[in-house]
Amino acid sequence: MVNHLAIIMDGNGRWAEKRGLGRSEGHRAGAKQISTVVDAARKAGIKYLTVYAFSTENWKRPIAEVTALMELIREFSESKLEDMMKNNIRLRTIGRTDDLPLPARKSLLKSIEATAGNTGFTLNIALSYGGRAELVDAVNKLLKERKSSAAVTEEEFRQYLYAPDIPDPDLMIRTGGEMRISNFLLWELSYAELYVTDTLWPDFDEAALNKALESFAGRDRRFGGLNKKK
Ligand code: FPP
Repeated sequence: MVNHLAIIMDGNGRWAEKRGLGRSEGHRAGAKQISTVVDAARKAGIKYLTVYAFSTENWKRPIAEVTALMELIREFSESKLEDMMKNNIRLRTIGRTDDLPLPARKSLLKSIEATAGNTGFTLNIALSYGGRAELVDAVNKLLKERKSSAAVTEEEFRQYLYAPDIPDPDLMIRTGGEMRISNFLLWELSYAELYVTDTLWPDFDEAALNKALESFAGRDRRFGGLNKKK
């Protein structure tokens, strides 16, 4: 059973290129697909979905593409608020979100605050997120806040990550075919099952998700031990 699903939503650019459209049109189609997959994930009994929407490295993309992505993020958090309230969905973000332009930040904050009491499902969007940045931010937070100099345990270190209360992902899906983690959830993915599909993100629908979940159901998760835990 997948409790927390993480997704690297890759392939928007290629999807657009295949149709003779600009890359930003691919991102627009990709943003729409998030809602489709949220609905499918809720139907499948998943409780947490973390999507990689913008990495610390994505700031290096052409300014027009970055601007289009930021506008899509602003639009998404604003236009989906009503739907999230209706469906008991909580919106959260992880990453260096202070780096986002003000309109995107404001609209995200509004939806994050409005949905804070929702308990049915959590949509967690990774924005200006990097796995290494998260670990470095955790260390710096720890150095600032921790009084004791006693050895740190894994459990204690975890408390300094961006979302310590969200359980680790059980499954990580990457669309677009690349066999890479790309600086995503480096700590949290330690024991996740990985699933890579050639399907491009804007084409990743309910049937594609269910296929990934079937593959997960057939895996033997041992967490480093010999006993079967499912
Ligand atoms: C990778 O495709 C995708 C991204 C860098 C951005 C993902 C963003 C969205 C799905 C939409 C905006 C998000 C929200 C939350 C509304 P790529 O451009 O690297 O594709 P390519 O590998 O085919 O070039």
